[in-house]
Amino acid sequence: AEGGHPEIARQSWAFSGFTGQFDRAQLQRGFQVYKEVCAACHGLKRVAFRNLVQPGGPEFPEASVKALAAEWPNQITDGPNDEGKMFERPPLLSDTIHGPFKNDQEARAAQNGALPPDLSLIARARGIERNPAWYVHPFLMLGDIFKSYQEAGADYLVALLTEYTDAPASFQLAEGKYYNKAFAGHQISMPPPLSEGVVTYQDGTPGTVENYAHDVAAFLSWTADPHFDQRKQIGWQVMLYLIITTILLYIGKKRIWAAIK
Ligand code: HEM
Repeated sequence: AEGGHPEIARQSWAFSGFTGQFDRAQLQRGFQVYKEVCAACHGLKRVAFRNLVQPGGPEFPEASVKALAAEWPNQITDGPNDEGKMFERPPLLSDTIHGPFKNDQEARAAQNGALPPDLSLIARARGIERNPAWYVHPFLMLGDIFKSYQEAGADYLVALLTEYTDAPASFQLAEGKYYNKAFAGHQISMPPPLSEGVVTYQDGTPGTVENYAHDVAAFLSWTADPHFDQRKQIGWQVMLYLIITTILLYIGKKRIWAAIK
């Protein structure tokens, strides 16, 4: 177990490795899972609707996101208006994605006292908790051991969503809790959110729990690190620039010192 956490199986991700990038179609499917399942309890308050249009994410067409925001079930409280009153309105592209609850109190009341956390940064938070070694030295962890915190976070989400089982006979499961192999302490207040066929994908991907879990985990990896793709691209450009600069400096040095034996 990594740092006292349950053992988490590794998954393969389009964004893994030095050149990996998010898979657009997977991010779109993952958002659909979030919208149709997770949004019933969880907010995504660091993500604005317009972020779903921007490069590096799901890259939905702007018109479709506008329509989506207009129909979003969770309203925005705005105001005060001319009469000094607060009012509710549908979100605009510039608004962030709210969960269904006004505040933590209301959320706890609806969930037997448990608080469904905002999911914007959960992939990053759980990934870093489970893979602190990343901060020691990336080059010490090559081959099979090499696993970035982004992968660790996504792997954890897949495990969390797919590893609900019956509690072992010896386990004292508290009332209103569910047994989950991946969750620290193994009892979680979240009922198993996914089941076969709950979401119908438009692109023909089969509606299995495994696929939903992978897709929503990839989507939440993006929400936790929205500039991931661009940052990796810039990394390569910087390397190229440094290589060219090194060659030029070497040639320059040769020429300058050529006259001196
Ligand atoms: C907790 C994801 C759907 C209620 C969590 C956590 C994650 C998560 C990552 C935090 C686990 C941790 O602390 O490590 C998701 C995803 C969903 C989903 C991806 C959709 C596929 C739901 C739904 C409900 C719900 C539909 C309500 C019926 C909760 C609650 C907690 C929780 C109450 C707190 C659990 C605890 O601290 O014991 N969820 N969730 N979730 N979720 Fe969900």
